[in-house]
Amino acid sequence: DQAPVTVTVTGASGQIAYGLLFRIAAGDMLGPDAPVRLRLLEIPAAVRAAEGVAMELEDGAFPLLSDVEITDDPTIGFDGASVAMLVGARPRTQGMERGDLLAANGAIFTTQGRAIEAAAADDVKVLVVGNPANTNALIAMNNAPGVPRTRFSALTRLDHNRAIAQLAHRTGEPAASIRRMTVWGNHSATQYPDLSHAFVGNKPAEDAVSDRTWIEDTFIPTVQQRGSAIIEARGSSSAASAASAAIDHVRDWTAGTSDGDWVSMAVCSDGSYGVPEGLISSFPVTCADGEFRIVPNLDIDDFSRARIDLSVAELAQERDAVRALGLV
Ligand code: NAI
Repeated sequence: DQAPVTVTVTGASGQIAYGLLFRIAAGDMLGPDAPVRLRLLEIPAAVRAAEGVAMELEDGAFPLLSDVEITDDPTIGFDGASVAMLVGARPRTQGMERGDLLAANGAIFTTQGRAIEAAAADDVKVLVVGNPANTNALIAMNNAPGVPRTRFSALTRLDHNRAIAQLAHRTGEPAASIRRMTVWGNHSATQYPDLSHAFVGNKPAEDAVSDRTWIEDTFIPTVQQRGSAIIEARGSSSAASAASAAIDHVRDWTAGTSDGDWVSMAVCSDGSYGVPEGLISSFPVTCADGEFRIVPNLDIDDFSRARIDLSVAELAQERDAVRALGLV
């Protein structure tokens, strides 16, 4: 029998966690052979609600779920964690300036970065979901200098999945027939969903679509603005789809990507594609043996170049802002 894998989820009383925890417990993330020990980290005011979620997890009688622990102490929360999913963050509230938001999240992600370094397992993999996700991941990474930088990531898989869904819808082909979608840059409205390397079945996506105007004026803005469209329709931000994307992200990072395909992950740049080293930016990556590798040598045309640069410039600005606050 395999020993349980410790998975820490922060923001455990929130709406994304409510979609996420049950999928983890069901084995959707780490597979049907991996028992899981869940550690739920919340702020004191939400610990009681997390206890309610834990009661429901218990009521699921999941064969793979060995244990659930709830805490408001980050060092206990990340103890022994092999997978750390940082979902909890400070949302922007009315009257809050951008600087206030970065500072409030800075406090959370410096503390959690330090706790990960102090307490997590040697093989820890970190996924930041809480926004601003790329920069929160940057802060956590810089406050855990003893943990390899390749263990930190932020979620752009939801954007990647949204891009696949839009292309599938447009072409009338199933999502499963689409390969090599890419999202570059920041998980924000400047992100660049890039189908210039994608395939629909055996056909290059641009040929399958055969409509440049649709790509530039519909596909790209629809993916970029999808989060706002969900808020408008649902009255609250994407939760189940974000949880599902987080499951996909960790599953593929751990189990590997399929032959001939890749996924989008925001990871620490090694300077690839002109993205300044050290920024957490979304790239096309393949995964094998629990490690990701940025897909090398893709041709980047002028259209793509301008859009990647725009989103990366925003990431550099966010980095400069948190640097000025002494957070990285
Ligand atoms: P939510 O507000 O329902 O839940 C957030 C939870 O985090 C709350 O229970 C809160 O008490 C907790 N929390 C706050 N500070 C904490 C701390 N220091 N430690 C532990 N827990 C803490 O929010 P929801 O809808 O679950 O979203 C979570 C985050 O994910 C938000 O920042 C949201 O913007 C982001 N998000 C990111 C997406 C992505 O693709 N990267 C997609 C959708 C949402």
